Amino acid sequence: MRLHYSEGHVFYRNLHYSYPVISYGRKSCLYDEDGKKYLDASGGASVVNIGHGVKEVTGALSRQAEKIGYLNGLQFTHYPVEKLAEEISKILPFPEAKVYFLTSGSETTEASIKLARQYWVEKGYKNKFRLISCKPSYHGNTLAALSLSAREHYQNIFRPLLSESIKIPAPYCYRCSWKEKFPACEMKCAHELEKSILKSGKENVSAFIVEVIGGASTGAAVPPVDYFQIVRKICDKYEVLLIVDEIMTGVGRTGKWLACHHFDLVPDLIVLGKGLTGGYFPLSALVVKKEIVDSLYKKGKSFIHAQTYSHHPVGCAAGLATLSYIKKNSLVDKSLIMGDALLKELSPLISHPHVGDIRGKGLLLGIEFVQEKKSKKPFPRKRKYVEEFLSKAMDKGLILWSNTGLADGMNGDLILLAPPFIISQEEISQIFNVLRDILFKMKSLN
Ligand SMILES: Cc1ncc(COP(=O)(O)O)c(C=O)c1O
Repeated sequence: MRLHYSEGHVFYRNLHYSYPVISYGRKSCLYDEDGKKYLDASGGASVVNIGHGVKEVTGALSRQAEKIGYLNGLQFTHYPVEKLAEEISKILPFPEAKVYFLTSGSETTEASIKLARQYWVEKGYKNKFRLISCKPSYHGNTLAALSLSAREHYQNIFRPLLSESIKIPAPYCYRCSWKEKFPACEMKCAHELEKSILKSGKENVSAFIVEVIGGASTGAAVPPVDYFQIVRKICDKYEVLLIVDEIMTGVGRTGKWLACHHFDLVPDLIVLGKGLTGGYFPLSALVVKKEIVDSLYKKGKSFIHAQTYSHHPVGCAAGLATLSYIKKNSLVDKSLIMGDALLKELSPLISHPHVGDIRGKGLLLGIEFVQEKKSKKPFPRKRKYVEEFLSKAMDKGLILWSNTGLADGMNGDLILLAPPFIISQEEISQIFNVLRDILFKMKSLN
């Protein structure tokens, strides 16, 4: 059974798709109302890290809801929020932090740039408001988060409402803006940050926001280690806050608690979401170096931000139970090991003429499709290559994530793989077999 917009009252995200109706999930799989099994190779939107149906988390959630389901973050505090902030502070690259809980990645992005702005104003730098971000990138879908992002097909129609940020080329080596290779490129994309700060005037720039390892926008592109060394130095030199978006990469997705740890990177603010509760409750977190929040505190100020569901007791209980389950079962290590295994299994696909690149870290992997390998020419958008690929995979019971527009804002197709960390070797082989079968049935052009 599938449901479509023309039936029922739901305002679906896709008005032109017939949705399978899922009944339940267990481990890495989903089961629909007709009993069809799906292997969740994308973890939803790179969310499901500990797997479906984990009783330790559902139990913690319901116990907390029974005790107290809601408290307002302005009136009370509670042990789940206190303990979760403490647990998060143990996995950070800086010694002391303050953690502000919200419910979605986009909200956390917004909060991060608001806090950066307030920080500078309280310090007396009233002009520091400009934001720099990368192209391509994705930081969320609310208007300010969308403004920071570079994803044309999400942005175009809303443009008069967006406040443009300054964009510099992302560290996306496969499609290097200078068509050079590392290390010969001398990290031009990192030095572009300095140029853009100088152009705007350092007295006007508040923060640089960047995904540490690319999410869907660059299909799990991993920057060279040097990138963040250079970026950190530039931010320090010009007093620009460094915000890292770990909404997709955080909480073990790339085989370390945070992707920052792969680069020995110490940012100023970190935004987390998605895997923080393994998908069991909407929860995100703005993680800030303590000295930044202290500077407000010492002036007798608080962060000017308010959301009804911030610091939510049930969300924080779900987060605590998820982190504890990850630790108890060594799932961050598992993400690294199974990520390597998946990358190895997928590697023969590179010989297929449509596969331009296979990349990623831990259990965040991307496969980029091209029409012509040598020139990296993408399929024309009207070909809808990745849409056809996804639909064929869904028919075979394999759930994938996709993105388009990465080559030039319009064209470019990729799939993202982000299965739960508990994925088995047998399921990895299953992913490979389905991808290979589909690839060999895909025609170059319609
Ligand atoms: C890197 C990144 N940042 C921000 C977001 C926005 O998070 P949310 O959809 O929870 O608002 C996403 C969502 O896909 C993301 O991948």
